[in-house]
Amino acid sequence: MRLEKYIATSGIASRRAVKKSIRAGAVTVNGEPVLVPGHPIDVETDSVEFEGKRVEPLTERIYLMLNKPAGYITTRSDQRERPTVMDLVADLSDTIYPVGRLDLETDGLLLFTNDGNFAYRLLHPSHEIEKTYIAWVQGVPHDDAIQRLRQGVTIPSGKTAPAKVKRLKISRDGKSTAFEVTIHEGKKRQVRMMFKTIKHPVIRLRRTRIGTLKLGNLPSGAYRILTSEEVSELLML
Ligand code: URA
Repeated sequence: MRLEKYIATSGIASRRAVKKSIRAGAVTVNGEPVLVPGHPIDVETDSVEFEGKRVEPLTERIYLMLNKPAGYITTRSDQRERPTVMDLVADLSDTIYPVGRLDLETDGLLLFTNDGNFAYRLLHPSHEIEKTYIAWVQGVPHDDAIQRLRQGVTIPSGKTAPAKVKRLKISRDGKSTAFEVTIHEGKKRQVRMMFKTIKHPVIRLRRTRIGTLKLGNLPSGAYRILTSEEVSELLML
């Protein structure tokens, strides 16, 4: 495996930052400085140090966030060979899997890991971890309708818990409205179904936050490894 990928996968820094550090002489392999990011590493036997600290081997846990574009299915494999979110992290590892799901047309923050315990903690309904979405919906919903969403509405998979719903803006042509919606459940197509009940269907949906973790300006289709602080903050929720 390439040296910079080996180090980036361990979660120390982004691949770009790691490359820079390698060139600057911050990395040794078996005690010898290596300045070439593509230097081949034998993951079984080589000992890599980054700024004097041993880089833990790949069997360590991996946590990353992807900015999922619309049009990708959240699944590990699709029988009909449609694009899946795994295609977007394929260069990293095939032992990771998505934590929860975003539906085909939804974009934004999606976590991946190979740590079953982490996935369980994030997904278990009893932990009530907040997820925030930006929803563009058709038309301009009346305040009373928005109030109903805040209190909870009945959708095909049951009654939704109270949600935080904030109007952000109305489009210039007055034909659509953007809302910030925060929920802590994971009912099927929940946000889309909530707006459907008030007859203002969602046109575009993006997840921007899970608990303490924000999507930020990660480009669409790109991923980044979470820092150990980010992982521990999520686990403390
Ligand atoms: N709510 C939806 O409707 N879709 C998603 O992907 C996530 C939440």
